[in-house]
Amino acid sequence: MDILSVSNQKGGVGKTTIDIHLAIRAAEQGKRVLIVDFDEGDVSQVFPEVAETDEKNYIQSSQLFDGSYVGGIPRQVAPNLWLIEADLAILDVDDMPLEAMYGPRDALATFADQFDLCIIDTPPNLQRRMLGALVASDAVVTPFNISRFTLARIPKLLNTIESIREVNPNLRLLGFLPNLVNSRSSNEIEALPGLREMYGDAMFEEAIIYRSCVSTSLAEGKAVWQQARSGAQRAAAAEMKAACDAVFERLYSGFGA
Ligand SMILES: Nc1ncnc2c1ncn2[C@@H]1O[C@H](COP(=O)(O)OP(=O)(O)O)[C@@H](O)[C@H]1O
Ligand SMILES: [Mg+2]
Repeated sequence: MDILSVSNQKGGVGKTTIDIHLAIRAAEQGKRVLIVDFDEGDVSQVFPEVAETDEKNYIQSSQLFDGSYVGGIPRQVAPNLWLIEADLAILDVDDMPLEAMYGPRDALATFADQFDLCIIDTPPNLQRRMLGALVASDAVVTPFNISRFTLARIPKLLNTIESIREVNPNLRLLGFLPNLVNSRSSNEIEALPGLREMYGDAMFEEAIIYRSCVSTSLAEGKAVWQQARSGAQRAAAAEMKAACDAVFERLYSGFGA
């Protein structure tokens, strides 16, 4: 099982959006995917709730930190797609001792045979929850919002990855993925080649354009390509698929080692 975190110490850059699209894409391609919500439930909300009659012991994400997940199971929410959803206690994880950051790594190792890919949604700060995700991960992808992007952030993010590599030497940075690009802003469109020149491979060539159908689809629990009817929807579908496939290409080719 490969473990991929979608992280950025900034909120509102599209972590959750990309995370869910990656999970649905991989599931559609036949992979058994486990999606884990270490944030405040944005991922969990996209999927159907537990049926009232369903009394199975489903794991909640804080349990990966304190060991109490043993005996529980991830919940299947779609074909090939299972979820470990966020509970209220996930917020308390940030107050746990530092050693808690090793919990998810050890817990997820016990699912290695059940799933092919695990995708972790992280909160926008470098506390226990994000550390736990990055310590457990083989790779990390960092979406960013080009309009609020300050170049000074990139070295900071690279430093974060470097410091995590001291405890998890296997962590690979797959790259920075531009999201929420305003297709009507020539500043933004023109900035993209410059970023690629400056950061080389660390910058994905793919960029995800801001399109309102991306958020409306997710609100209905669907990937944007699952309801691509209008021209804008089809464009959004193609852009999101290309971005997901580029992430998988880097994940499976060993990029960033
Ligand atoms: N490419 C996009 N086009 C349009 N809206 C987007 C796009 N990516 C993200 N959004 C919207 O932007 C907001 C922030 O995205 P989200 O994935 O929740 O970010 P994060 O998880 O980093 O906080 C959400 O309302 C989401 O629906
Ligand atoms: Mg989020």
